[in-house]
Amino acid sequence: MADKFYFGTNTKMYKTIQDTVDFITGLQDLTADISREEIQLFVIPSYTTQKDANAIKKPDLLMVGAQNMGWEEQGQFTGEISPLMLQECGTDLIMVGHSERRHVLGETDEEENKKVLCALGHDFTTLLCVGETGEEKDYGISEEIIRIQLKKGLFGVKAARTGKLWIAYEPVWAIGVGGKPASKEYAEQIHVVIRETLIELFGPEAGAAIPILYGGSVNPENAVGLSKMDHIDGRFIGRSAWNADNFNGIIRSVLAER
Ligand code: PGA
Repeated sequence: MADKFYFGTNTKMYKTIQDTVDFITGLQDLTADISREEIQLFVIPSYTTQKDANAIKKPDLLMVGAQNMGWEEQGQFTGEISPLMLQECGTDLIMVGHSERRHVLGETDEEENKKVLCALGHDFTTLLCVGETGEEKDYGISEEIIRIQLKKGLFGVKAARTGKLWIAYEPVWAIGVGGKPASKEYAEQIHVVIRETLIELFGPEAGAAIPILYGGSVNPENAVGLSKMDHIDGRFIGRSAWNADNFNGIIRSVLAER
């Protein structure tokens, strides 16, 4: 169980540069009184916003992440963004393996692994997303799928490097429009599997310290119940967090109930 509670949002392919600047500015103002000993806040906007988002972020209030990253510093990789380019923008965090990258854009566990190694190697906080599809859940193989995604995605990562590693559990069937949020009991069950796998990979100390966040149709109604579960260290939110007032409301209602 992590010390802090984590709250983050991925704004996907929404929000222009100005929208993002306004959103981050609003979120910082609204949450400035909440102790950062208690929470870790982060926003993951599009590539084109990285420079401006990082310029207006207050590093003691929130982190800015990128939604993806290439796994080489430079080369013949048209359309990719290198770790050096994101470092130049001041980006703090790299998200790897979001469900839409895996299932809409066709990324594999092997590719996620290269990105994880590259991101950690460049000292970024690295958020690896895992999650089973509805079909895999119906076959009763969710736990196997999660273990495979973790073991392949984190292959070659040394325990000493996990201080900047975070995991998000985002069941594919729970994400986005038409998604159905996981029950808190189901989410807890999978978070326990993730924790056990991390301990198996990195040992009891490093494996226990990695934050595990839940994402997938988190909304003001279910956010509080999820936070009462022992193995859920945070919320990773899409639609319900894209308005700073709403996001602030979710953060405060979760903190009030913890
Ligand atoms: P959602 O998105 O909260 O809108 O379901 C979650 C995500 O894609 O990370």
